[in-house]
Amino acid sequence: MPGPDRASPMITKTPSYDLSPRNTFRMKVKCALYVEVTEEADLPALDWDSLPQPVFVMGGGSNLLFRGDFPGTVLHFGVTGLGSATVPAGTVFDDFCAWAASENLWGPENLSLIPGECGASAVQNIGAYGVEAKDIIAGIRAWDMLERKFVDIDPADCQYGYRTSRFKTEWKGRFIITSVTYKLSKEPKPILDYGGVRKAVPDVPITPQLIRDTIIAIRRKKLPDPEEIGSAGSFFCNPVISKEHFEQIVKTAKEDNGPDYEVPHYEVPGGIKVPAAWMIEQCGFKGATNGGAQVYHNQPLVIVNASGNATPEEIIGLEQRVIDTIYTKYGITLHPEVEHV
Ligand code: EPU
Repeated sequence: MPGPDRASPMITKTPSYDLSPRNTFRMKVKCALYVEVTEEADLPALDWDSLPQPVFVMGGGSNLLFRGDFPGTVLHFGVTGLGSATVPAGTVFDDFCAWAASENLWGPENLSLIPGECGASAVQNIGAYGVEAKDIIAGIRAWDMLERKFVDIDPADCQYGYRTSRFKTEWKGRFIITSVTYKLSKEPKPILDYGGVRKAVPDVPITPQLIRDTIIAIRRKKLPDPEEIGSAGSFFCNPVISKEHFEQIVKTAKEDNGPDYEVPHYEVPGGIKVPAAWMIEQCGFKGATNGGAQVYHNQPLVIVNASGNATPEEIIGLEQRVIDTIYTKYGITLHPEVEHV
């Protein structure tokens, strides 16, 4: 196998690259070419026209499922750095959260321990415990692969929604985000009203660090540690349904669990959000396997590579079983949150 080729001191190109250490699902797949960029200023000099197509820009590889070997170029923008509100896109997002908390700055504390990098936070509109990336993003800088120039993008133009943005739709494959500027505040802005956070925060003066520590403890209890077991976090999005549809689900749930049973739900703009984790659990999928793939027992919204050797086909087979069963029982089609590449 040919070794890495240093096109410039800051760009490394590796043909037939093994992506298994670069995706948190630990799928054993390869790409035709892997390009690692470690200097923003080198982007214009990359030989764009000779790269195997398509070009896929990846971040931390924590929200991806490679369906098999990738025929084109996988490009990673690896510039990192901490110390101000403007953060190079390759910085691990949780390193930024840790830094902000250590400076007593409010903003990203509820998003602590979400895997992935800062660039992806702006693509995916990551979210947890009542905060979404869009709430704290002030500006985005990117390399436009179409126009071949650097651009500044206003978050107001990014069409942010639940785990989505224009970067995932109309702008898909166009931009390499090079830095994200976040809104950080010295003024206390605690957001505690989601998922038991208030109850878990100790009764002492609240700091960003205290909320960060609380969120980390909650996440560690529920979610698999990516260092120990391969996964891509939540595999499915939580569906939003109409009030009438929700009433039908309540009826089914009471038949299944007794007349006093209460279905977890949240009122959101556009309808009622029913946790997909609840439906998956109700359908008996906790711990269910398909070869090496498994529905995680602590949080069934997560599919894990339990054996360490699960194949994309096994993950997708389990995904399809969950989708089909939930559709048959509740008339809801679950959509994956994880990007299939
Ligand atoms: N639930 C069950 N059974 C379970 C687990 C959960 O019935 O085994 C029900 C409970 O009623 C619980 C509800 O599901 O209250 C919600 O569970 P949880 O708070 O764990 O959150 P989630 O809706 O499953 C979402 C995000 C997570 C994020 C948490 C906390 C999505 C797709 N996922 O999960 O994000 O950490 O809320 O804000 O919206 C991720 O995107 O990778 C991710 C982990």
